[in-house]
Amino acid sequence: MDYKQKVTAALATALDGQLTADEISAKLERPKTSDKGDMAFPTFTLAKVLHRAPQQIAQDLAEKLDQTGFEKVEVVGPYLNFFFDKGAYSEDTLNTVLTDGASYGQNEAGNGGNVPIDMSSPNIAKPMSMGHLRSTVIGNSIAEILTKNGYHPIKDNHLGDWGTQFGKLITAYKLWGNEADVKADPINKLVEYYVRFHKEDVDKPELDDTAREWFKKLEDGDEEAHHLWEWFREASLQEFNDVYDELGVKFDTYNGEAFYNDKLAEVVQILKDKNLLVESQGAQVVDLSKYDLNPALILKSDGASLYITRDIATALYRDRTYAPAKNLYVVGSEQTYYFKQLKAVLQEMGVKSADNLQHVPFGLITVDGKKLSTRSGRIILLAKVLEESVKLAGEEIDEKNPDLPNKAEVARQVGVGAIVFGDLKNERTNNIDFVLADQLKFEGETGPYVQYSHARAESILRKAGKVDVQAAGNQIDDPEAWDTIKTLADFPAIVKMACAELEPSVIAKYAIRLAKTFNKYYAHSKILTEDAELPARLALVKAVSTVLKESLRLLGVQAPDEM
Ligand code: ARG
Repeated sequence: MDYKQKVTAALATALDGQLTADEISAKLERPKTSDKGDMAFPTFTLAKVLHRAPQQIAQDLAEKLDQTGFEKVEVVGPYLNFFFDKGAYSEDTLNTVLTDGASYGQNEAGNGGNVPIDMSSPNIAKPMSMGHLRSTVIGNSIAEILTKNGYHPIKDNHLGDWGTQFGKLITAYKLWGNEADVKADPINKLVEYYVRFHKEDVDKPELDDTAREWFKKLEDGDEEAHHLWEWFREASLQEFNDVYDELGVKFDTYNGEAFYNDKLAEVVQILKDKNLLVESQGAQVVDLSKYDLNPALILKSDGASLYITRDIATALYRDRTYAPAKNLYVVGSEQTYYFKQLKAVLQEMGVKSADNLQHVPFGLITVDGKKLSTRSGRIILLAKVLEESVKLAGEEIDEKNPDLPNKAEVARQVGVGAIVFGDLKNERTNNIDFVLADQLKFEGETGPYVQYSHARAESILRKAGKVDVQAAGNQIDDPEAWDTIKTLADFPAIVKMACAELEPSVIAKYAIRLAKTFNKYYAHSKILTEDAELPARLALVKAVSTVLKESLRLLGVQAPDEM
């Protein structure tokens, strides 16, 4: 039962064509508290058109209105306040949630359309940063949200696995490296060699020549160079995969920048054919002045490709492989200008999905007040943050619930969930200062709080044992339950909004709201009392548990049944 539609239809008839259904629907508001009704229609704008007092219009409408199916309709000043039929509404809502289960809120708006999501995309031989964490968890959640809206996401990890730095790395490794060290601690060792290279090449510029030669060899397919590159890539990837496993994130492809090497010549050819390449100080650029952007550098004077050259090839490849319905890049806001240039070049080239290309930016992250920068050496290792969080969650569980079975696994779910939720509850473009201890609290707007609310619901259901929640018709009269019912009914609209805005925080904020209304209900009402309404109340608990778990799943956060 869609009450918004019901209210709209009743008003449309009463207004006799003075407003369209869409116009009415857009004006409907939700009163702040349930005692003022469940939906309100303000008459201010009508007053301007009809040249009558809004209060008068509200009165007249109330008289004309067909009120069947509503508990009542009240006029308060210029507002018409609609009160839903609580019994019927709760029965309908609870039955829908219980019947649909985890697929409650699913819609098919996306029509199965492919959506490549460029996400995570860390750089080989460098540690994964908090920025890459944000890209990973935001991208992963957007993928789940898209699936819930009927799209087919393709999670694409565009690894930074190519570029002149590999010439330096090979040079450094050949001079100072050793196989056993790299095998024992790949990324740290590789960073160490890389840093040493930059220190020493100040006095020994010939190192740069060697590095250029090695990169040239790599590009030409030299066996030794290629072998080393592949090894560094594999070893780094293994470390990245540990983090992905911990986060529970899987990718559909790992086609990094190197994958597009043999596809660059075509890009250059297309640009030439379309007369888009111009020479500038020996380099080849695309002029973007008509987009009010700086020129995009496509080839250096020595013919070497750049980051953007590989991104153009990537976009072309995705265009042909997936015919994308949307084409998303979950990358930090610091690359906003870059993505404008990329999109402009693709538009100039006439790449079909260029218009769908959407940079999905996110803000900077600091951890416990500390800025993160590879250059300053103040890197906070993502793996360390996760480890610390899991440890703290374990201590919390030891204190609160020492007899919990599989404590270690629950600590992992809570510790990791805290980090992921703590990130996703923020609008993605905001900068965040991440205070680890705050994210781990079982109270307040945290992942553990939502997880704990879910576990509490599950514990009530366990205690109730075998009550058939689907049998009772599930009419619930308890006024305390009403806000929870309405919040449950909001979920399908929330799923759509999160998709339209590509904004996981819409789901996270909703999960907090649902947990809060449920906990308020729980604090006021005895659920497990043996009376005729018990099955209806348990149905509500089951529905809350289902929707909390599904909300967390859309964020990539697990929901333990006990914690
Ligand atoms: N590797 C890049 C970095 O760490 C991010 C790549 C983003 N994706 C892309 N298609 N450019 O900054």
